[in-house]
Amino acid sequence: MNAAVRAVVRETLRQGHRCYLIREGYTGLISGNIEEANWNHVANVTHLGGSMIGTSRCDEFRTSDGRKKAAQVMFERRIFHLIVIGGDGSLMGAQKLKEEWGRFGEELFAEGKITEEVANDGRELHLAGIVGSIDNDCIESDKSIGSDTALHRICEAIDGLVMTAQSHQRVFVVEVMGRHCGYLALTAAIAVEADYVFYPEIPPDDNWPEQLCNQLDSVRKLGKRQNVIILGEDVTNSKGVKIVGKQVKEEIETRLQLEVRIATLGHLQRGGSPTFLDRLLGLRMGYEAVQEVLKQTEDAGTVSGQKTVAKVMCLRGHNIERNDLSRVIRQTETANEETIQKNSDLA
Ligand code: F6P
Repeated sequence: MNAAVRAVVRETLRQGHRCYLIREGYTGLISGNIEEANWNHVANVTHLGGSMIGTSRCDEFRTSDGRKKAAQVMFERRIFHLIVIGGDGSLMGAQKLKEEWGRFGEELFAEGKITEEVANDGRELHLAGIVGSIDNDCIESDKSIGSDTALHRICEAIDGLVMTAQSHQRVFVVEVMGRHCGYLALTAAIAVEADYVFYPEIPPDDNWPEQLCNQLDSVRKLGKRQNVIILGEDVTNSKGVKIVGKQVKEEIETRLQLEVRIATLGHLQRGGSPTFLDRLLGLRMGYEAVQEVLKQTEDAGTVSGQKTVAKVMCLRGHNIERNDLSRVIRQTETANEETIQKNSDLA
């Protein structure tokens, strides 16, 4: 994400505009925790994990009142271009702000909180989104910023576990993140030669303990001394109850009398130095997002009366595409709902 912030700041300044850092995500947008950025703010940041400007899960921004407070701060500071980096929740919030923006402007003017001139100048919010999430759950982007680094971290951790598992002839159940998207679980499973993977898109049927143990038994008979099982987040059983590592462990121990340990990788997956691919992706998406909001400004000026559409930067093959944010959000939501539905159908 820091690579993206760097590219946004440097490209905006290079083109002769002002750029502001909104600290602590939407919480900072509502409270006005905003600082003008300079060239040096983003020096020496590309190699850092996390977010140099902070982030937050902001419940207030989920409400229209919260978004209106954020809009007021933006109008007061005459900030009418916004680039948001985040997961589906952040991008959905941004899209809602865009949809309500015109009404907020009118209301703030009617309430005497902004002048007519400011209301007019900020008739439109020019918005671009960048997908930053380890989950890689954005339907129209091959990769989201952070997912490659998270996978790297998962593989490294499991490589370490395999060494001790090999010595003790143990089974490791490794719990990974990803919410209702199985990308991290599935791709990590392939890369670490796991023996079994649970992921939400294909919920396991009632027979999973038997299938799993048959699989482990057969590879043990071929001479394998250790096993890795990857358990994605939000995988449920046929009764709709989340499958947890403890349950998997108990099934294996009872049926196969093997020694099982559980490793929950947790937030380790979200930290550490970003991979080359994530750095490059962040830089490219940040650069494109600036071109996008500037293009929206131009379009708004040339095609009078026509509203601009918010775009999200998506990686397709080797190219960065700018796709309609509202459509991408809708499609991602549908995909998530389908996964949840599959799980509850089984229940
Ligand atoms: O969406 C990213 C993610 O890391 C998910 O994989 C995980 O379910 C969630 O965030 C964890 O959220 P928090 O850091 O709030 O516990």
